[in-house]
Amino acid sequence: MLAVAILAAGKGTRMKSSLPKVLQPLAGISLIERVLKTLNDLAPEKTLLVVGHQAEQIKEHLNHLQTLEYVTQEPQLGTGHALQKLLPVLKDFQGDLLVLNGDVPLLSPSTIQHLVSKHRSNNADVTLLTARLSDPTGYGRVFTNNAGQIKEIIEHKDCNPEQKNNNLTNSGIYCFNWHRLSEVLPKLESNNNQGELYLTDTVAMLSSAVQVEVMNPNEVQGINDHCQLAQCEALIQERLRKKVMLEGVTFIDPYSCTISENCLFGRDVVIEPQTHLRGACDIGNNCRVGPGSLLENAILDDDVNVFYSVIRNAKVGKGSAIGPFSHLRPKAEVADMCRIGNFVEIKGSHIGTGSKVNHLSYIGDADLGQDVNIGAGTITANYDGINKHRTVIGERSKTGANSVLVAPIVLGSNVTVGAGSTLTKSVPNNALAIERTKQSLKLNWKVRGTTQK
Ligand code: UD1
Ligand code: MG
Repeated sequence: MLAVAILAAGKGTRMKSSLPKVLQPLAGISLIERVLKTLNDLAPEKTLLVVGHQAEQIKEHLNHLQTLEYVTQEPQLGTGHALQKLLPVLKDFQGDLLVLNGDVPLLSPSTIQHLVSKHRSNNADVTLLTARLSDPTGYGRVFTNNAGQIKEIIEHKDCNPEQKNNNLTNSGIYCFNWHRLSEVLPKLESNNNQGELYLTDTVAMLSSAVQVEVMNPNEVQGINDHCQLAQCEALIQERLRKKVMLEGVTFIDPYSCTISENCLFGRDVVIEPQTHLRGACDIGNNCRVGPGSLLENAILDDDVNVFYSVIRNAKVGKGSAIGPFSHLRPKAEVADMCRIGNFVEIKGSHIGTGSKVNHLSYIGDADLGQDVNIGAGTITANYDGINKHRTVIGERSKTGANSVLVAPIVLGSNVTVGAGSTLTKSVPNNALAIERTKQSLKLNWKVRGTTQK
């Protein structure tokens, strides 16, 4: 039987942030969700999350996970104190307890499996995941005897200069025989540099303490400050880009781009420099995205070109071109073969096949038919100060430059709107609608009062 405890009650003081440390995001996914994801294949009997500092925020963030059990640690007197809180919860539990730190998010499921199976085959009291680090600063140092058994773990702050030279570090990941651990937990003392009850001290109290060294030390990178968060982000981005490049995606300048775990790419996609893909993006075959673009939950069909633009929670159809400097906002749906151009914002609208919105326009809450041509500076005035209203424009209609369409309004098909018109009434099929004062001329106006040469 296996129970898992994840420690997430600490203050995260070194982050200097009002966001709980375990909710800090890495490639868009919080540290705690990353740790929980590594347990998917393990199917433990129980998963316990120890919370304390900003517990409510953490529970709210994870409220979609029904099987998680919370254990409250208040106040937070150290990692050993956190495990003492499990004593009543696991009173009758017979089995092993896997302990994970909520701030160690890059661990692979296979490393965890390996740790648990080693622990069981050795029949150990505790098996500790260790790592040899080129820079062990901040980590607890692991000291072993000649037989390879762990003698003790000394925290960085409690090490003397010679002990600090030991680069065998504690990853914060342990598999304990719960019964043995529960016997020594009450004996912990806080006579150390931080005045805390250290979980690491239990290792010296147990008779059989074994270590398993991790193959890739990057997996046990802990996050205590924003420098370590940035290092982990770089590691994840490197891994994600490598994965999709091996699947056939071209990056012109990979290090200037970031992507999320939930992005899907078709064949022969090219990502230009300074382009960022967040959330669940789905990029079709032969798309070219960037340079300088941000896509979040964007769905692009095949052969789409996006150039210096922002697309969020929106869809673009086959063969359409977006940008430069277009902004597709939530629920913008651009159909096939459209052209969305310079300084155009589209929100909550459907743009019909082959339509063009080329320059300086706002299209909000509108339905455009096929082959509509929106002239430069056309605005759908969708908001009356209280409610939003829709604009409908039929197929092959054309608005002149600087038109304002005051919604709710329906333009039929083949409608022409004269440049500079502000329309407040609907227009039937095939009509020309024009609303502006006649041009007047004052001849020789310029010469009045000036001296002619
Ligand atoms: C800890 C280990 C250190 C190891 C390192 C690996 C101890 C004493 N030290 O140090 O040997 O090298 O992790 O990353 O265990 N937490 C609680 N309650 C508390 C204190 C902390 O739940 O009272 C939680 C934190 O939220 C965090 C985890 O335990 O998720 C580790 O705490 P942290 O303060 O980051 O310990 P480190 O100094 O990193
Ligand atoms: Mg830590």
